[in-house]
Amino acid sequence: MENGNKSEQMLLTQIAEPAPVSGSKVTVVGVGAVGMACAFSILTQNVASELVLVDVMADKLAGEMMDLQHGLTFMNNAKVNASTDYACTAGSKICIVTAGARQKEGESRLNLVQRNTDIFKGIIPNLVKYSPDTILVIVSNPADVLTYVAWKLSGLPKSRVLGSGTNLDSSRFRFLLSERFGVAPSSAHGWIIGEHGDTSVPVWSGVNVAGVRLRDINPKAGLEGDPENWNKLHEQVVQSAYEVIKLKGYTSWAIGLSVSSLASSIIRNTSCVHAVSTDVKGQYGIENEVFLSVPSVLGSDGVSHIVNMNLTSEEKAQLQKSATTLHEVQVNLKW
Ligand SMILES: NC(=O)c1ccc[n+]([C@@H]2O[C@H](COP(=O)([O-])OP(=O)(O)OC[C@H]3O[C@@H](n4cnc5c(N)ncnc54)[C@H](O)[C@@H]3O)[C@@H](O)[C@H]2O)c1
Repeated sequence: MENGNKSEQMLLTQIAEPAPVSGSKVTVVGVGAVGMACAFSILTQNVASELVLVDVMADKLAGEMMDLQHGLTFMNNAKVNASTDYACTAGSKICIVTAGARQKEGESRLNLVQRNTDIFKGIIPNLVKYSPDTILVIVSNPADVLTYVAWKLSGLPKSRVLGSGTNLDSSRFRFLLSERFGVAPSSAHGWIIGEHGDTSVPVWSGVNVAGVRLRDINPKAGLEGDPENWNKLHEQVVQSAYEVIKLKGYTSWAIGLSVSSLASSIIRNTSCVHAVSTDVKGQYGIENEVFLSVPSVLGSDGVSHIVNMNLTSEEKAQLQKSATTLHEVQVNLKW
């Protein structure tokens, strides 16, 4: 606040310089449909005290910033700024990257990889330059490979670079399970792990409500020959993004809420467990350095632990297949 004229000077007496940067400053790079849904969820859920938006489209950026600022009266008074210059991101606790090309109708996430890798070369070093202790949360697709790319470009420890991964796919899964079980999504427990995309893995062996496992009631749930065809739900999860993109052109609200939940766990140091994309080399028989989603403990230093899931041999094999697919894409990247 600037005390420029007399009335303003009479209203307030300054007794200390304002704190330069709060501990809950969040930057969102990319103010498209996804970036703005992340920003809106973070603001309305009081996750950050400072939000900075960055994009290459200066007019759109300024418009989005003003639109959010005009709503601050109805939220806790977070600071909202925007700039095409990364200097304004200095001291960010979290940098969320949503910039880049998105899927066209029918296009796979992996198809976007080289275009978005090239875009990341201009983004990631700038973020780390101004916030060397930040935690990077990668949302742009293909999220897992780009999390690996961001880690390589950043020089940050692996624990500080994570992908939004299958936190969203798991939420889609829990919504669909909840409809069949007739309970709330938050009471329908189930995890999707592996790639955020076509080779994601549903952990049917762990699906439960209040600890009552679906597999104890229907041992074939999710398997071939299941008379109740539970696996249809996983097919729907995989198709979800394609379906929503076909209907409205892009996906936004669910990914925004999903990313806000990750930011909240980091800023509030909650140790909540989320399916996020993290380095899994050496886990579940995976030999290559790939990032994919497994349930991970999130806190103020990023990923502190991963949960050792009791997977069936079939689930482990599917996860390894996911890892192989991602590794094949990674080795063909042009740096
Ligand atoms: N991980 C997930 O679960 C998930 C879910 C939905 C979408 N996505 C991905 O998120 C990304 C964004 O999707 P969207 O629908 O918001 O796209 P969009 O086209 O609406 O927005 C992309 C934004 O990135 C900006 N941008 C491009 N290059 C930039 C650069 N070098 N620096 C800064 N900003 C730049 C563009 O100006 C634009 O504002 C896509 O890659 C999409 O596939 C991921």
